Amino acid sequence: MDDRMVKELMATVNCAVCGRRYDADNISILYHQDELWFISVTCESCHTKGLVAALIKASGETQFVTDLTEAELARFIEGYSGIRMPPTKKTMVEGRLRRRVRALGLSGLQQYCQLLFDQHLLDQEFIHLIDAVSTNKTEFFREEQHFHLLMEQVVPDFLNGGQRSTDRPLKLWSAACSTGAEPYTLAMLLEDLRQRVGGFSLSIFATDICTEVLAKAKAAIFPDDMLDSVPMELRRRYFMRSRDPDAHTVRLVPAIRQAVRFGRLNLMDESYGMPQDMDVIFCRNTLIYFDRERQQAVLERLCRHLRPGGYLFIGHSETTAGMDLPIRQVGPSVFTKIG
Ligand SMILES: C[S@@+](CC[C@H](N)C(=O)[O-])C[C@H]1O[C@@H](n2cnc3c(N)ncnc32)[C@H](O)[C@@H]1O
Repeated sequence: MDDRMVKELMATVNCAVCGRRYDADNISILYHQDELWFISVTCESCHTKGLVAALIKASGETQFVTDLTEAELARFIEGYSGIRMPPTKKTMVEGRLRRRVRALGLSGLQQYCQLLFDQHLLDQEFIHLIDAVSTNKTEFFREEQHFHLLMEQVVPDFLNGGQRSTDRPLKLWSAACSTGAEPYTLAMLLEDLRQRVGGFSLSIFATDICTEVLAKAKAAIFPDDMLDSVPMELRRRYFMRSRDPDAHTVRLVPAIRQAVRFGRLNLMDESYGMPQDMDVIFCRNTLIYFDRERQQAVLERLCRHLRPGGYLFIGHSETTAGMDLPIRQVGPSVFTKIG
């Protein structure tokens, strides 16, 4: 069985909600292991979006499954998100799934799977599945050295070099942006510079696999203790305090919120549908969750989206050692694209 054959098979199935046949264009294979396939379907007619798990034999014999074990769900999360799961973590994930089942007041994993598969709640539940294996931890000015290098070397390069032209914006991408502290740090620094020296425009893209962190990022409301790492001058200029003193939250001003475009993107996807001429890509503290093969594949794809001379920033605890990539190191966990 290959992806095409499975899509053709699924295109003979009717939507569980409105009864209309699924259209091959609205079917995508998320992941499969042996005969167990996870397929995302969107009904063209009623727009219901769902996840289907099916055991598909080489003969085409298909059996839909709604009673996966914790271990099978954990394997799906690993395959789909790329997030590695050593045995100890697997036990932890299975435990978290059980907690999630209890939190929803369900009788057991079987009922949870029914929510995911029969009632098509995967989209809403996805955050909890991903949360079970990854951390969304982030902060403003995280690994601060990178922002110094950006402002002292990378941006001056862009402003003074041949790449500069009045109609070409400086393009930055925060891949795996979590709740937005990373792209907003970029936005604050660059907006601040733009106010002072002017003469360039900005495009900041920010993506993550998880829709719930993206919703939080777009809202741009943060606990006020996250301000601790923000320089006083930027705090004063770009954050507003909540009117409710008990809320202990701050919100970024519209100019910064509007400077960042958020979208959902799974780094495991074969292609990213993003501009190919990025000046700067930040992909930090995420590769660490993937196995080496997937790290290399993600980095190869990210490099395709960098212009020659563009910069790639990865997390301080991540490495490209031993990988064959078109980049040269220019600082701690910072690389420039060759060619
Ligand atoms: C620890 S946060 C890193 C946030 C930010 N880059 C930083 O360094 O502060 C890791 C993020 O990676 C996201 N993530 C995990 N797997 C992903 C994937 N396959 N594609 C895109 N994002 C993914 C998670 O949802 C999470 O928000």
